[in-house]
Amino acid sequence: MIKALLISSLVLVLVLLTVQFKDKGKGKVEPLRAEKQQFLIGAAANYKRLASDKEYRNILSKEFNVMTVENDLKFINVHPAKDRYNFYNADKLIEFAKEHNIKVRGHTLVWHGGLPQWLKEGNYTKTEMEQILKQHIQKVVGHYRGEIYAWDVVNEAFNNDGSLRDTIWLEAIGPDYIKKSFRWAHAADPNAVLFYNDYGIGAFNKKSDAVYKMLRELTNEGVPVHGVGFQMHTSIKQNIAFSDIENNMRRIHAIGLQVQITEFDVDTSGVDATLESKLSRQAEVYSRSLKTCINSNGTCTAFVIWGISDKYSWLGKEARPLMYDSNYIPKPAYYALKDILSQ
Ligand code: G3I
Repeated sequence: MIKALLISSLVLVLVLLTVQFKDKGKGKVEPLRAEKQQFLIGAAANYKRLASDKEYRNILSKEFNVMTVENDLKFINVHPAKDRYNFYNADKLIEFAKEHNIKVRGHTLVWHGGLPQWLKEGNYTKTEMEQILKQHIQKVVGHYRGEIYAWDVVNEAFNNDGSLRDTIWLEAIGPDYIKKSFRWAHAADPNAVLFYNDYGIGAFNKKSDAVYKMLRELTNEGVPVHGVGFQMHTSIKQNIAFSDIENNMRRIHAIGLQVQITEFDVDTSGVDATLESKLSRQAEVYSRSLKTCINSNGTCTAFVIWGISDKYSWLGKEARPLMYDSNYIPKPAYYALKDILSQ
């Protein structure tokens, strides 16, 4: 009787151990952030979701060691009236990040999008516009001094042909609005890591060349810019030039700047294939992109995905661009990242 009990206990222990090893192989046991502790693996997050969705909170706190504030720090949300700031949502997100030892990326100070009516329709003079932007940056960066570790200071300032995008900031202040913004942000938090962030600038093209040229000039002049954000909103339809991205990272490294992948996602819509094959192609894009970042000899310091679950992606549910499906089941993309991070 005792012998039978002992044998069955031994069998049970063996079964449990096997399950654990199997799960570890599949990446179920260790969260992504635990695999390569120096490397930042992150997601964009919104307070609205954090406040209402337990599963969202759970995954965010467990899996990631960096978070980008997706919308709560955009001008329209944080500065809704000329004399009123609303820090509530971002404060809450940052409180959560602190509790879970997650670094925070602030997004974004100077952009043509996400602007409030009062600013767009205020008919302010050029001098007033410059004052408004300066005060906005000082107030927002100052509020989070020491808490937001990196900022996307200027976002999407270039057109695809390499010219500067026509924005209210360019119009009012001229091309110097870019360097001025970096200086204002640096003065408000001298320890924050300051980024220029854009889409379509990972590989070589007119836009990425123009961004590179501008950054080279700024660094030569001693403007406090520290990194470049490659957004990387991609799709399984795209042919991504990974070797170009590697070489582009190299030239950015050569002028003393770091790179982060800041808004990664992979749209799976618009392709006539089974869901299984679309998700497997998606996993491959996740995997190769993360690999490119990790193999950059320290140039690429973070890989941030633009959301957590397909349930809330900005691309809509059909696109299924994220690592978790709408029911928070990890997709092949999750396991693909896990594999790369555990190597
Ligand atoms: O939360 C409100 C909701 O209360 C309201 O009923 C609804 C009605 O329109 O709007 C909701 O807010 C929307 C918000 O997303 C949250 O879903 C805004 O209208 C909508 O404009 C906003 O879109 C965001 C977009 O930037 C514009 O700011 C996306 O979530 C966000 O993912 C997207 O992110 C941008 C980056 O900042 C810059 N790079 C490109 C990237 C994708 O477009």
